[in-house]
Amino acid sequence: MSKDTVTLINNRDGKSYEFPILDATVGPSVINISTLYKETGMFTYDEGYTSTASCRSDITYIDGAAGKLMYRGYDIAYLAQEKTFLDTAYLLLNGDLPNKAELDNFSFEMQKRSFVNEGVKKLFDAFPDRAHPMAILSAGVSALSTFYFKHLEITNKEEYKEMANRIVAKIPTLAAFSYRYSQGLPIIYPDMNRGFTENFLYMLRSYPHNYVELRPIEIKALDTIFTLHADHEQNASTTAVRNLASTNAHPYAAISAGIGALWGKSHGGANESVIRQLEMIGSVDRVDKFIAKAKDKEDPFRLMGFGHRVYKNFDPRAGVLKKIRNELMGELGISSELVEVANKIEDIALSDEYFVSRGLYPNIDFYSGLILQALKIPKEMFAVIFVIGRTPGWIAQWSELNKQKSVKIARPRQLYVGSDDRTPEY
Ligand code: CMC
Repeated sequence: MSKDTVTLINNRDGKSYEFPILDATVGPSVINISTLYKETGMFTYDEGYTSTASCRSDITYIDGAAGKLMYRGYDIAYLAQEKTFLDTAYLLLNGDLPNKAELDNFSFEMQKRSFVNEGVKKLFDAFPDRAHPMAILSAGVSALSTFYFKHLEITNKEEYKEMANRIVAKIPTLAAFSYRYSQGLPIIYPDMNRGFTENFLYMLRSYPHNYVELRPIEIKALDTIFTLHADHEQNASTTAVRNLASTNAHPYAAISAGIGALWGKSHGGANESVIRQLEMIGSVDRVDKFIAKAKDKEDPFRLMGFGHRVYKNFDPRAGVLKKIRNELMGELGISSELVEVANKIEDIALSDEYFVSRGLYPNIDFYSGLILQALKIPKEMFAVIFVIGRTPGWIAQWSELNKQKSVKIARPRQLYVGSDDRTPEY
C-alpha cells in the first residue's frame, strides 16, 4: 500500500480500494477519485461542491482560514495597492505582470478595441425601459459572439490574445451602454484619451458635450474594486464559464453564462442587496432589531455583506476596500444615515459572539456596496461592475481549460431519489 494513497473500505462487503493523493503547490492535497465509479459502482455525493476540486489550476489561490488570496502567486493586497487593474488583467491573461512597454501596449489595445459594432446598438433598442443592466449586458455579450464567430476556433496564442483583449476592452462599453439604455439616457462613446477605469466612469456619468469631473480618488477606488474582483478560483460563475468551455461553446457565450450566474444575490448581486438592506433598515435606532433577526434561527433574514463560503476568518479583499472606503468618504466628505447604519452594523458584527464565533466578518460586498454608492453608481450597476472586474479571470480560466490536452465535458452525476419503474395505469 503506497503512502501517497487513501484507502476506502466499503463496510457493506469489506472490499477496500486505494486512491492516489495529488499534492498542490500550496494548500490542500486532493484524492483522485476519477476511477471510483468504475471500481466501486458508486459516486461521491457533495452538494454545493464543498469538498470537491473540479480542475487543476495555476491561476488563483485562496486560503480561507488564513484570509489569503493570490493571483498567479501575487498577494491581492500588493496588486490592489501597488498595481492597476490593467496590470492585474494582463497578469491573469498572460501569466506574468507586464513591463512598462507591455502595459502601454495593453492599455492601447484596450482603448482601440473599446468600441462595439454599431449593429450591437440595435439590440439595446429591443429592451423595455428600466430593464436590469445585467440582463442587457448578458444579451449584449452573447450577441458579440455573432460578430466574432471566428473565436470559436482558436488555434494559437495570437488568436487567443485578440479574443481576450477584445472582450475585456468591450465589456465596459457594453456595461455603460446597458445602463444608459436602461435609464433612457444618451449613450456616450468611449474616449480614447482616457485610461480603462476612467473611461468607464466617464461613459457612465457624462452627457454629450458636457464636462464631467472625475476625481483621482474615485478612479482609484473603482480600479481597486475591479482588481479585487478579477478572479476568485472556482466560484459559481467561473464554474459556469468552465462548464460551457468544456462543451466547446463560444468564449463569449461562456462569459454570458458567467454573467447570468453572477447576477444571483448570493454571488455578484450581494453588494446591491447590501445597500437595499441598509436602506430598508433606514435608521441607526432600528439596527438592533435587524441584528436580532439575523441571529434568530427561526427567521430566514441574513445580514447581507457578512459571511463567506471560503473565508472563515476574514476576507482579505474587504481589508483593502475598508481602507479605500475610509479615504473616499474622507475626501468626498460623505456622511449619511445609510453610512451611520452601516458603521453600527459593522461595529456590532465585529464584536458580537454570534458573528465572531461563526466567522461572519464583513465581506467584499459590504464595502464595495458602500464605495459604489459613494461613487454615485446606481445599485442596478453593482453586479455589472463585478462583471467588468471578473472578465479577465473568466477568460484566463476559459483558456486554461481549453489548453488542456484532452478536455472532459463537465457532467456530474446524481443521487437519484425519484420513483423506480412506475406501472402505468390503463
Ligand atoms: N447573517 C446571519 N447569519 C449568517 C449569515 C449572515 N449573513 N451567513 C451565515 N450565517 C450563519 C448561518 O445561519 C449558519 O448558522 P448556524 O451555524 O447556527 O446554522 C452559519 O452562519 C454558517 O452559515 P452557512 O450558510 O452554512 O455558510 P455558507 O458558507 O454556506 O454561506 C454565504 C456563505 C456567503 C452564502 C452566507 O454567509 C450568506 O448568505 N451571506 C450573506 C450574503 C452575502 O453577503 N453574500 C456575498 C458573499 S461574498 C461574494 C463572493 O465572493 O462572490
